[in-house]
Amino acid sequence: MPVPGPGYSITVRLEAPPSASAAGDLTSAVGRAGGVITAFDVVESHNDRVVIDLTCNALSANHAKDITDTLETLPGIVVRKVSDRTFLVHLGGKIEISSKVPLRNRDDLSRAYTPGVARVCEAIAKNPDDARRLTIKRNTVAVVTDGSAVLGLGNLGPAAALPVMEGKAALFKKFAGVDAWPVCLDTQDTEEIIRAVELIAPVYGGINLEDISAPRCFEIEARLREKLDIPVFHDDQHGTAIVVVAALRNALRVVNKDIKDCRITVCGVGAAGSAIIRLLQAQTPGDIIAVDVDGIVHRDRPGLDSNLKSIAASTNKDNQSGRLHDALVGSDVFIGVSAPNLFGADQVATMAKDAIVFALANPDPEIDPMEAQQHAAVVATGRSDFPNQINNVLAFPGVFRGLLDAHARTITDAMLLAAAQAIADVVDGDRLNASFIVPSVFDNTVAPAVAEAVRKAAQS
Ligand SMILES: NC(=O)c1ccc[n+]([C@@H]2O[C@H](COP(=O)([O-])OP(=O)(O)OC[C@H]3O[C@@H](n4cnc5c(N)ncnc54)[C@H](O)[C@@H]3O)[C@@H](O)[C@H]2O)c1
Repeated sequence: MPVPGPGYSITVRLEAPPSASAAGDLTSAVGRAGGVITAFDVVESHNDRVVIDLTCNALSANHAKDITDTLETLPGIVVRKVSDRTFLVHLGGKIEISSKVPLRNRDDLSRAYTPGVARVCEAIAKNPDDARRLTIKRNTVAVVTDGSAVLGLGNLGPAAALPVMEGKAALFKKFAGVDAWPVCLDTQDTEEIIRAVELIAPVYGGINLEDISAPRCFEIEARLREKLDIPVFHDDQHGTAIVVVAALRNALRVVNKDIKDCRITVCGVGAAGSAIIRLLQAQTPGDIIAVDVDGIVHRDRPGLDSNLKSIAASTNKDNQSGRLHDALVGSDVFIGVSAPNLFGADQVATMAKDAIVFALANPDPEIDPMEAQQHAAVVATGRSDFPNQINNVLAFPGVFRGLLDAHARTITDAMLLAAAQAIADVVDGDRLNASFIVPSVFDNTVAPAVAEAVRKAAQS
């Protein structure tokens, strides 16, 4: 199912004989090994040899090594160096700070720094709200993690989380002009994280929590929301919920169903699943059946924690028990944010007519999308190599742009729903179909539309 992609892209610098057949031999060898060539550059030419940079996509690090090994076996080929292009992108980090003001002479210096800056400090001391007008607070967000749930990789700690947080900061800037800065905390203690964020908050106009594992993420977010006068948003929860709600809105338009009549099975009741359920509930669906690793969440299930208790109390009208396969029977919608390969086409066949399947576990979804398509009317995944990619990038840049522009101090469900509606509305009726329920992440109308919707909701 997976195809070679740019996440595993290598450039092999090699020497080859200057024969007419050398290029063909190299490209066929890569093809035989299952790689996909994306560039072929002759970087040096001599009478007796040419030096070539051969760039190709692979499936995995091991596959990239297989491709290199295959090239090395060709007669006359000498592999000089293999560069992993993903690591090259990360050399020295992905973001930097630059000055917005000129610092050419004493005059510039006296205004941007001392002595001039002193008067600005005094103005802010007198009126702290001026920090939003006269400092980076106006446009800056902290991307805070403890490294406890990094992507799908688990608890890698704060230093290993930094490449993800840098990437997030780069996306904030690219899509919404927001200056975000990674804050990777060397603690996984709930109280220490809350205190640390509280202490750094004066610099920022918002806090984006990232890759903090459930259930600690729920308490950390709730307590910070109480304590801080800036919006606190856990992207793994609410960014996901916004995009899922947007995608579902459009999928339901495709199959012509009303959410109020739909039975929705949500598999995975961790960070993403809990937030998805709560945002769906704001639209009063027919029923939601939550399922986790221990089966259907119902009121009589022993050992529920406080999060699951509140989910059990507000879902599953008939108090059904059982496993995922039981929940799927008759469901109009499946939303998976759980684990790979949990069911197949046979179970989709038991769902209601015109079923919608969002299988979002990364990197491998709950069901192979090709199997899901056999019986479902609309299928979405988190993957970039299938149609309908549910990607948080559609939400978080515009959400924070809107919050910062509104000088918002809190974030509400009304703002999250406004963001979801804005994303859904970018796909107009002429373009909407089963393979296009969400806009492309590179559609540059999305972030401004989301920002405007959130700003309006924040100011209303
Ligand atoms: N936009 C996206 O595509 C997107 C966004 C967020 C999360 N995700 C994916 O969703 C998954 C969950 O993310 P999270 O942050 O909520 O994780 P989490 O660890 O907080 O929660 C995982 C949940 O899945 C459940 N689960 C695990 N194995 C299961 C099984 N075999 N059957 C049923 N339920 C099972 C657990 O009980 C738990 O409720 C990950 O794969 C993540 O990559 C995708």
